[in-house]
Amino acid sequence: MKQYLAIDIGGTSVKLGIVDEGGCVLAKAEQSVCFDYYETPILTTVLSASEQFLKEQDVRPQSLAGIGVSATGQIDTHTGTVVGTCGSLPNYIGSPIKAELEAKFGLPVTVANDANCMTLGEVWVGGAKGYTDVIGVTLGTGVGGGILTGGRLLEGARGLGGELGHYRTHALDGVLCTCGASGCWERYAATTALVRAAQPRNHKWRDGRAIFESAHAGDPIILTLLEDWTDEIAQGLAGLVHIFNPQLILIGGGVSAQQELLIEPIARKVRASIMPAFAEGLEIRAAQLHNDAGMVGAVYYFRQSRGEN
Ligand code: BGC
Ligand code: NA
Ligand code: ZN
Repeated sequence: MKQYLAIDIGGTSVKLGIVDEGGCVLAKAEQSVCFDYYETPILTTVLSASEQFLKEQDVRPQSLAGIGVSATGQIDTHTGTVVGTCGSLPNYIGSPIKAELEAKFGLPVTVANDANCMTLGEVWVGGAKGYTDVIGVTLGTGVGGGILTGGRLLEGARGLGGELGHYRTHALDGVLCTCGASGCWERYAATTALVRAAQPRNHKWRDGRAIFESAHAGDPIILTLLEDWTDEIAQGLAGLVHIFNPQLILIGGGVSAQQELLIEPIARKVRASIMPAFAEGLEIRAAQLHNDAGMVGAVYYFRQSRGEN
C-alpha cells in the first residue's frame, strides 16, 4: 500500500501525518506555534518538523509516494507557493512550500488551501462520501471554504477558488477585515467573531469552549450572541446555496461538535432563508474528520493531481 506524508499548516499549528492510499491516518503529530510572536519563517518550522516526524516514525522518505500539503491562505496550486494570507502570519507570503519540500525530501509535492483540502478529505473518507455537490466551511480563527461542484473541486484559475471567508456579506457597511477589505463573511462568522462579541461582556469567554460551556448552562447573554452569530453564518450559507445548489453543506472547525447549539440552528435558518426548491434534498451537517480532514484531503488532492484516484 502506498503511503504519503501529509502536512497541514494552520494558523496555530503544524500537523503531520502518514496517510495511506485508503485515506487512513497511520500516525500523526502536531506542533503548535504561536505565529504572532514567531520570528522563524513558518516554512523553516515545517521543514524541520517534517524531518523530525519522519525520523520518529522511522519512515524513510524514499519509502513514501509523495507529500500532500494543506495550508491556510491563498495557495497558487500550480507553483505550490503562498501568494496571499490574511491576519498576521509573519514570513508566510511567498513561501515556496512545494519547491523546498521537493528539494529536501526528493519527493513530489502538492500544496492546496486548507479548507479546499478539508472538503476533499470529507469527500474521500468522511461525511461527503458519494456526494458531487458540496460546500465545506471551517469555522475557526478565520472562515475557510471549499466547493465541490459536479464532483470536482472548484479551483479557479490559480487554485485560489473557494475563498469563502472573504465573500462579502456586509459589503457596504462592513467591519474591516484583515485582508484589507470590509464586510467579509469571516469577520462575522468565524469563531473569533463570536469571541470578539462575548469577551467584553465577560473575560472568561475567551474561546469557543468557554462560550459553549456557558451556553449549555443557559446563560442568556451568550444565547443571544449565539443567535446573532448563527444568523450571520446562515445568511452567508444561504447566498452560497443559491449560487452552487449543493446537496450537502458540511460545517467543520473546533465548534462543529455543537449539534443543538450550532449545527441545528444554522440548518434551520438556512432552510428558512432559501428558495424552497433549493431546500429540497439539501443536507446540512457537521464535518466528520475533525482534525485530520486537512491532512487526509491534502493526500487526496495529491493523488488526484497524479491521476491516482
Ligand atoms: C484564509 C483562508 C483559510 C481560512 C482557514 C482564512 O482567513 O483566508 O485561506 O482557508 O482562513 O484557515
Ligand atoms: Na478555500
Ligand atoms: Zn477579508
